[in-house]
Amino acid sequence: VQNLSIIGLQWGDEGKGKIVDYFADEFDGVSRYNGGSNAGHTIVIGNRTYVFHLLPSGLLKGKRLFIGPGVVLDPIILKEELELAKKEGIKFDLLVDGRCTLVTPLEREMDAILETLRGDKALGTTKRGIGPAYAMRALRVIPRVMDLISGNYNLTFAKKFYSLFKKDLPDLGDWITESEEVLHDRVGDVSKSILEMNESQKWVIFEGAQGVLLDLIYGTYPYVTGAHTLANYIPASLGLPAKSVGIVMGVVKAYTTRVGNGPFPTELHGGLAEAIRTSGKEYGATTRRPRRIGWLDLVALKYSIKINGVEEIALTKLDILTKIKEMKVCTSYLLNGEEMTDFSTALPKIGEASPVYSEFPSFWGVELTSSKLPRVVDSFLEYLENELKVTIKLVSIGEDREETVERT
Ligand code: IMP
Repeated sequence: VQNLSIIGLQWGDEGKGKIVDYFADEFDGVSRYNGGSNAGHTIVIGNRTYVFHLLPSGLLKGKRLFIGPGVVLDPIILKEELELAKKEGIKFDLLVDGRCTLVTPLEREMDAILETLRGDKALGTTKRGIGPAYAMRALRVIPRVMDLISGNYNLTFAKKFYSLFKKDLPDLGDWITESEEVLHDRVGDVSKSILEMNESQKWVIFEGAQGVLLDLIYGTYPYVTGAHTLANYIPASLGLPAKSVGIVMGVVKAYTTRVGNGPFPTELHGGLAEAIRTSGKEYGATTRRPRRIGWLDLVALKYSIKINGVEEIALTKLDILTKIKEMKVCTSYLLNGEEMTDFSTALPKIGEASPVYSEFPSFWGVELTSSKLPRVVDSFLEYLENELKVTIKLVSIGEDREETVERT
């Protein structure tokens, strides 16, 4: 056994939470390593549905939960989630790394101001202060979690910096008191804890937020998030040796979605997109925005797989394809009259790429059960495995944990 890294290979919302939850029983802990409260995973408790943004998935499994140093942490959102978990009687042991960058009301406001400044070139961020928080860290302006709880910080410079954007400053007095309260007995050294667990043969799932195509450097810049989403970043952002990454499992939705703005070559409009959106409940977990919908894009996927060294895939939401009468997959792009199969070559002009599709027999009305997948589905999965040179290890055919097929 070893650690398991679970990352999204598209533009986020691939269903990573369900896959983390599926494997959590076999592991001793789950750790977040990137992003912040821009992420969202939906959890059903009894007959109610909750969305968590910062706490790692697997919180219902009683595993040790970690928020690693690479995360930008909004203490007030963490407080809300901890209160909700307490109210629901969910118990877990959470460790937040002292080196996490704080997201204060300053960064949240800066996010909104920047989006307004961008006008019709707005990125469509979640306005959770993610980009500004990473920027403030790089500028060494904002204190870290450990500075806040040790009282060893000074916000004067941060406030001066903020006043370049806006003169009236949000009052941080209550924010500081509240943040100290929520953090003080939960802070420690996540890197050390995970290393110690690994040394005693205890293994951890590293839960990715967003997806490869939203990576700050390797995604569809500037329409990306403020963090790194590649598997390579996992050990770096958790302070672990490179080999700790363990198995890299990529999560892929059987079609593609994107929230926010930016290029999306296989995007669909009209009735078909609406049908998929409705069946797939494709609305942003954090912002409730309708997600943009498109066909599966093998050009983009090959890139994501290659730059992450992904060998195993979990394919999600296959059941949604049984509700539509067409079945297409993008196999290349047309760009300036030229056919392209290499995503990174197409990337500088990706907004102008039009998709070339292969058609497949539709899954319309096909019944999916967890015991055996129908031939039409199996041959499609074999096609994908051949094209992508990966193993499709897991197929999700519904929301419930039981609606998961392990392929051997
Ligand atoms: P930010 O991460 O809030 O700065 O947003 C930048 C881009 O990433 C926007 O297009 C967001 O919609 C997108 N994004 C951020 N978090 C998620 C997520 O969890 N799922 C899908 N898209 C996301």
